[in-house]
Amino acid sequence: MGFCVDDYARAAAPVRWDDIDLTVFRDRPLSPGTLRVLRYMCDVESHTVCYLRDLLVTPSHADPEVTTFLTMWNYEEYWHGEVLADVLSAHGVPTGSAHVREVRLRQGWRDKLAPIKQSVIANLVGDDFVATHMSWGAVNEWLTHAGYTRLMRIENHPTLTELLSRIAAQETRHIAFYATQARERLGRSSRAQRLTRFALARAWQPVGANVMPRAEVRHLVGHLMSGTDGDKAADRVDSKIDTLPGLSGLHLVRRRTESLLRA
Ligand SMILES: [Fe+2]
Ligand SMILES: [Fe+2]
Repeated sequence: MGFCVDDYARAAAPVRWDDIDLTVFRDRPLSPGTLRVLRYMCDVESHTVCYLRDLLVTPSHADPEVTTFLTMWNYEEYWHGEVLADVLSAHGVPTGSAHVREVRLRQGWRDKLAPIKQSVIANLVGDDFVATHMSWGAVNEWLTHAGYTRLMRIENHPTLTELLSRIAAQETRHIAFYATQARERLGRSSRAQRLTRFALARAWQPVGANVMPRAEVRHLVGHLMSGTDGDKAADRVDSKIDTLPGLSGLHLVRRRTESLLRA
């Protein structure tokens, strides 16, 4: 495979931001629309460990290459949440443990039952589930990377651009793992292709949509994925999904974002 998970594990590290002066936001603060998007992104990055909980009850836990990646992925995503929390904090937006806990508790019973439901479905599917997990991960990381890139362009704030570029560079490594795994696993199983296509078409939503309130999802999509440039960004992600075996022509991102904005 074209991705060496041992090299990735050795290189994984917290994104660096101690050399960046966040007090510049006092003189040149971010726009309210961008801060609201950052609140969403921060909450979702900080939720990664909860996604990991739901993935470790599936057949993915048996593959050591996958679990090595997930261990380091979770570590890097944790720090993405911390960087964004510091940016929010520099604008006087409340962050910290109390807020993270509140996001988790507001998920309610559906969230409490999620690991049970996921375990039953995924273990009934068996090994092909791992292909679906890897494909889902690739889609989400492609979209996350596209989201950060759009936010940099829209806001055009040098400090935000520097921070988000560093985060996006790590998302690129996550993309490489998920896409490599997805391509390989889908390529060797037509059943995995059918299951993954079905699952994505039926249940996929933009990253964080099942965790964040609907109004926040709509704001995120409207801010980042609407208008000519937003449509182009959505189409670019869709064309990447098209390259995975058995997943061409889904138009997932464009369709979901359009239906969210219509709703
Ligand atoms: Fe991240
Ligand atoms: Fe990521």
